[in-house]
Amino acid sequence: MGIQIAPSILSADFANLESEIGRIGNADLVHVDVMDYHFVPNLTLGLPVVEAILSRTDVPVDCHLMIDDPDRWAPAYAEVGAANVTFHAEAAAAPVRLAREIRRQGARAGVGLKPATPVEQFEDLLTEIDMLLVMTVEPGFGGQEFLDVCLPKIRKAREMVSRSGLDIWIQIDGGVSKETVERCADAGADVFVAGSAVYGAADAAAAVEDLRRLAEHASTLT
Ligand code: DX5
Ligand code: ZN
Repeated sequence: MGIQIAPSILSADFANLESEIGRIGNADLVHVDVMDYHFVPNLTLGLPVVEAILSRTDVPVDCHLMIDDPDRWAPAYAEVGAANVTFHAEAAAAPVRLAREIRRQGARAGVGLKPATPVEQFEDLLTEIDMLLVMTVEPGFGGQEFLDVCLPKIRKAREMVSRSGLDIWIQIDGGVSKETVERCADAGADVFVAGSAVYGAADAAAAVEDLRRLAEHASTLT
């Protein structure tokens, strides 16, 4: 699939979501952060708003569920038409069953890892998933500083995926900007979430292109 850029609407104007998503028509995915005040200390939006977004854009929707009990709530996001549904490893009771259910509903299944969660525990489950999300900040808020301490985990994830021979995307999320995107691409990430770096720019589409160009140039993937 190559390098993909996924602007996060967490940094968009929530009162004007349709036009805000229209600003990033050149993106590969639109990243939607669902937060529940429990898994993370913030609250954003849920299924009705995701459905509204799906009805107004052709860009595939990438749902990042930062919620407790994803076993109960995640499949519905796939059912309504999200392209990717990512749940957190720390919150899922039965990740294999959940990933299978998300796939059964027609979406790609992603597993998210907070900065302190090791990736190795998922090596045996790679056949069950389509994306690993390596968080590069503590989840919950946009505009945080990128955590360099997560770079070795991106490399480990890439090594695991390469060994498996499977088509599994490695997404990173948090603090991605023109200053940090290259080291993540060099470490093996291929899907780049960026909130403030895109929506904080006067020209959001140009910011997407800048990130894409830098990531493609630094990428070690063939
Ligand atoms: C944070 C969210 C991110 C957030 C990233 O928990 O998962 O998607 O929007 O924002 P930036 O790119 O500003 O760090
Ligand atoms: Zn996110």
